[in-house]
Amino acid sequence: LNRISYVNGRFVRHAHASVHVEDRGFQFGDAVYEVWTVFDGRLLDEEGHFTRLDRSLSELSIRNPKSRQAYLAIIRELLRRNRIRDGLIYLQVSRGAAPRDHVFGNQEASPTVVLTAKRVDFKAKEAKAAIGVSVITLRDQRWSRCDIKTVNLLPNVLAKQAAFEAGAGEAWLLDAEDFITEGSSSNAWIVTSEGVLMTRPADNAILNGVTRRRVIACAKQLGLGFEERAFSLSEAVRAREAFITSASTFVTPVVQIDDEIIANGAPGSISLSLRDAYQQCNQIDTPNIEQDGTVAAGGQPCIP
Ligand code: PDD
Repeated sequence: LNRISYVNGRFVRHAHASVHVEDRGFQFGDAVYEVWTVFDGRLLDEEGHFTRLDRSLSELSIRNPKSRQAYLAIIRELLRRNRIRDGLIYLQVSRGAAPRDHVFGNQEASPTVVLTAKRVDFKAKEAKAAIGVSVITLRDQRWSRCDIKTVNLLPNVLAKQAAFEAGAGEAWLLDAEDFITEGSSSNAWIVTSEGVLMTRPADNAILNGVTRRRVIACAKQLGLGFEERAFSLSEAVRAREAFITSASTFVTPVVQIDDEIIANGAPGSISLSLRDAYQQCNQIDTPNIEQDGTVAAGGQPCIP
């Protein structure tokens, strides 16, 4: 089976999928992206990711070249052509290709649209979540608009590489006051020693995760004590539980921060019940991506 990707109006062999050398995404990182999980044929949090895509584009004055229905038709076709029921959809919109110039002016290039689909083994991820991951902490070296999901990910890439080299699964980033902002590609959470679930408010220092928002809703449904406030590294290492959230990892327990083991070193019960609740409410609430182009809640997933 040849892997197929989408570039600017065409479905092409993945090996031949490419953009222009003067694409502003390539030259300047002048582009935004979204990542959806496809789980059992369902596009999880479809709406939340589209809403954030619109916001990222509008913050950067990049015109959104396509409607949601058009993106959904492409996603459906990519899943079909690549025969994927479980995986990830990656979408990138750049400001487009134009002669290299920092100024983009008012005469905007035509935005570049790229979508790729990748198969994921969620069983392997489940096994990882059952053990938990360790995180390292590093100074947050990013800019002051981390709320926009841009492809400018160099500090995130370097942080994740440092985590990898340290044998850890994620890097938690520290602001100037030693408060955790977020992970290199996930949001950061703790359950404090007093039993309060805590995550940083969605300020400009973090990406407001779609998974984060859904987990907040799950926590409220479960009646958990929840406080949306920044927590420090010293609070984190004394926490009863810790975990990360993202579209691709759902809720994944953190069992070690730097050299400190969290509680007894096993995933916490609140973390695991939120992981369950997240998956359950996605099963119930998430519209299925239908073959005929309409999206409806409930029913059977229809991707073969
Ligand atoms: N990362 N914070 C950062 C810096 C992220 O890159 C991500 C997502 C999140 C979580 O957002 P969400 O819950 O909407 O996935 C938080 C994606 C998965 C990625 O870069 O692959």
